[in-house]
Amino acid sequence: MKKTGLHKGLTQYGDIDFSLFLRKAFIKGAGYSDDALDRPIVGITNTGSGYNPCHGNMPQLLDAVKRGVMLSGGLPVEFPTISVHESFAHPTSMYLRNLMSMDTEEMLRAQPMDAVVLIGGCDKTVPAQLMGAASVGIPAIQLVTGPMLSGSYRGERVGACTDCRAYWGRYRANEIDDEGIAAVNDQLVSSVGTCCVMGTASTMACLTEGLGMMLPGSATAPAVSADRQRVAEHTGRQAVAMIQQRLTLDKVLTPAALMNAFRVLFAIGGSTNGLVHLTAIAGRLGIKIDLEKLDQMSAETPVLVNLKPSGDHYMEDLHRAGGVPAILHELKPLLEQDAVTVTGKTMSELLEDSEPAFNRDVIKTRKEPIYVQGGIAVLKGNLAPKGAIIKQSAASPELMSHEGRAVVFENAEDLADRLDAPDLDVNPNDILVLKGIGPVGGPGMPEAGYIPIPKKLAQQGVHDMVRISDGRMSGTASGTIVLHVTPEAALGGVLAIVQTGDRIRLDVAARSLELLVEAKEIERRLQQLPEPAPRPEDQRGYRKLFLQSVLQADQGVDFDFLQATEISRSVPS
Ligand code: FES
Repeated sequence: MKKTGLHKGLTQYGDIDFSLFLRKAFIKGAGYSDDALDRPIVGITNTGSGYNPCHGNMPQLLDAVKRGVMLSGGLPVEFPTISVHESFAHPTSMYLRNLMSMDTEEMLRAQPMDAVVLIGGCDKTVPAQLMGAASVGIPAIQLVTGPMLSGSYRGERVGACTDCRAYWGRYRANEIDDEGIAAVNDQLVSSVGTCCVMGTASTMACLTEGLGMMLPGSATAPAVSADRQRVAEHTGRQAVAMIQQRLTLDKVLTPAALMNAFRVLFAIGGSTNGLVHLTAIAGRLGIKIDLEKLDQMSAETPVLVNLKPSGDHYMEDLHRAGGVPAILHELKPLLEQDAVTVTGKTMSELLEDSEPAFNRDVIKTRKEPIYVQGGIAVLKGNLAPKGAIIKQSAASPELMSHEGRAVVFENAEDLADRLDAPDLDVNPNDILVLKGIGPVGGPGMPEAGYIPIPKKLAQQGVHDMVRISDGRMSGTASGTIVLHVTPEAALGGVLAIVQTGDRIRLDVAARSLELLVEAKEIERRLQQLPEPAPRPEDQRGYRKLFLQSVLQADQGVDFDFLQATEISRSVPS
C-alpha cells in the first residue's frame, strides 16, 4: 500500500516499525495527538527571513494557510527553506536560485508530507520552488506573498522598482538633488511585499496563475490586504483537496500549462526573466523550449496589461481591474483549454467563471492592446548564434532598427571604472556592449544588462541607447536592451571578440543581431582568445558546483544534473 502522512519516507534504522515509533515519539514531544498525526500532512515552506522584506508578511500567511488546512481536516506542518532577496544576495540572486530549488526539492523528498504549499514571492523564490516541486511531483500549490503597496513622493505615485531606476537616472542627470533622492528612497517601498510593477516577481506570480499552479485571482492581491489572507486560507484548503483528488504535479505541469504560462508572460509585457525561469521549469519536466516557435507565439500575443515598466499602472491597480482571471478571459481563444489546474478544473472550466476587466485602462482588449505584439522578441545572428532576446514593449521604437559603433566594456568592473569618465569616447548613436555577465562569467548572470547611460550623455538628455550583453535585466527596467546573448563571452561566444569601433546592426523586425565584421576576422579573433586563468575562489564549494554545472540562458540557467534525464517533448508544439 502507498505510504501516506507520517508513514512516508521513514528514516532508515533497519527496522521500519521502529522508525515510525521513533518518529512519532519525537513529534509528540511537540504536543501532537494521535488524531492529529493520522491526518493527511500538508507541508508549508516558510521562506521568511530578516533579509527578505518581500516576504515580510510570512507569519500572517503561515497562520492563514494553516487555518485553511485544518478547516479541511489536514495537518499543516511548516518548515524552513532558504530565502533569497534581490538586494541581499551577492553576487546576484540568480546565483542562488538553483541552490534554493535543490533545498526545496530535497526537503520535499526527505520530510513526510502528502502535499505542499510553496510560499514564495521575491524574484527567484517562486521559480526555485516550482523547479524543486516539479522534480518531486507530489501535489503542490503555489502561494505568493503578494505585491507591496505603491508609495507617494511629492504627490507622484512611486513604487519599486521602475521608479527606483527612473529617479536614480534623474539623479545621475542632475535633475534631482541629494535631498530629493534621499526623500524618494523613503517612499519607493511603502509596505512589505514584492515589487509593485510588472517586474520579475509580479511576472512570475501572474504566469504561475496562468500555469495553473495557483488559485484564480491569487497573483495580484496586495501583500497587506485581507484578500491576500483569504487567498492563503483557500490555498491551504485546496492543498488538502489536491491530496484527496490525487492531483499530482505531472497532471498540472504539462506542455499545455506551459503554453498558457507563456501566453500570460507575453500578454502582461512580463519580465524577460520569466522566459529563463519557465525554460528551467520545463527542463525539469523533460520539455525543451523552442525559441523560434516561441517568438512566433509572442508575435501573435498582444500586450494587454498597462503596468510599469511597459505602461503606467501598479499591481494594486491590476488587482482591482480583475487580476489574472480578467487577463485570461481576454486571452481565451489563445489558451490551451484542456490544461488542468491546481483547482482540479481545466482552464476551460475556470474561464466559464471569469469576467471581463473592470478597468480598461489597466487591462486592454485584444482589439485595442497596449502593444500589438508580445513583449519579448527572440533575436538570432552571428553575434548570438544560440539566441538573444529583447523586451520590445519596453524599448524605444526609434532604436528597434539601428546600426552603430560598439563601445565595449570587458566586464562589470571595467564598466564601473570607465562608464562615467568625462573622456569616454561615446556618442548617442553608439551601441554599448558589456561582456562577462553571463551564467558563468557573472557568475550567475547578474541583472547588469541594464547598462546605465554614460553620465556625460545622460546630462545631455539622452535617455536610451542600444545596449547588448550576455546578462539579464530586472523586469522593472526598460530601454532598448538586448540580453541573454548566447553563447556567453566567458565561454568563448562571439560576444567575447567584439572590439570598440566594430559596427553592430540590430533589426528587431527581422529578429537579427549582427556583428558587421568579416567571418574570417571573427574566426581569427576567436582563435586568439586567451584561456581564462583559474581563480582560487572558483575551486571549492557551491561556486565550484555552479561553474561546473550551469547551463546557458537557452536552457534556463539550470544545473545540467537537475534537468530531466530525457528531453522528450517541446513547447510550443
Ligand atoms: Fe523582491 Fe523586487 S526585490 S520582488
